[in-house]
Amino acid sequence: MAQVLILYASDYGNTEKMANAVTDGVNSVEGVTAVLKKAEEVSADDMTTSDGVIFGSPVHMGAVDWRVKKFIDTVCSGLWMKNLMNGRVAGVFTSGGGFGGAGGGTEVAMLSMLNNIAELGMLIVPLPKNTPNYKKGGLHWGPYGRSADEDMEHVGVSEEALSVARQHGANIARAAIAVAGKTIFTA
Ligand SMILES: Cc1cc2nc3c(=O)[nH]c(=O)nc-3n(C[C@H](O)[C@H](O)[C@H](O)COP(=O)(O)O)c2cc1C
Repeated sequence: MAQVLILYASDYGNTEKMANAVTDGVNSVEGVTAVLKKAEEVSADDMTTSDGVIFGSPVHMGAVDWRVKKFIDTVCSGLWMKNLMNGRVAGVFTSGGGFGGAGGGTEVAMLSMLNNIAELGMLIVPLPKNTPNYKKGGLHWGPYGRSADEDMEHVGVSEEALSVARQHGANIARAAIAVAGKTIFTA
């Protein structure tokens, strides 16, 4: 049985909705257990017992949330020192509310997390452009939910974005099965 950890931060529930949809997608794949946690609750053991990890963040001031970054700078840095995450799979998702199609800073937040994921020696799972509803909630880096409309009125993340999040979770679950118990990188 492979395990996929989904970690996130959320103040107003939008990123949490995305995290729940990603988790549903992971659980839709036979042979995978999903573990859903807030970034502040994730331990080093949670990471090293997982074959895949999915990082989710709201966009804050054009970048990644501080709790997700704190987790990366504390828990993940220790794992990086010991090369403990090499060869596991990983992906990202975000929710933002700002101006522009994907919100202001969504891509920066995703790339920031993906940079850390690459640093950890993990295998990045992207989001293919033929994913259903991609144009409503996908970038090639991962799914995004937009919680505000073009006038910055709160509308909540759309069903289309949640469906993209479910698909991403299922994709990463299948990738986790593919790498579970395998040595990808040799020293
Ligand atoms: C302090 C703060 C800064 C934010 N900065 C941005 C931003 O730069 N770009 C953006 O698209 N949304 C920004 N937002 C909006 C949130 O990213 C958006 O509402 C998101 O869906 C909130 O997620 P949550 O409901 O999980 O907390 C900001 C929200 C807060 C509270």
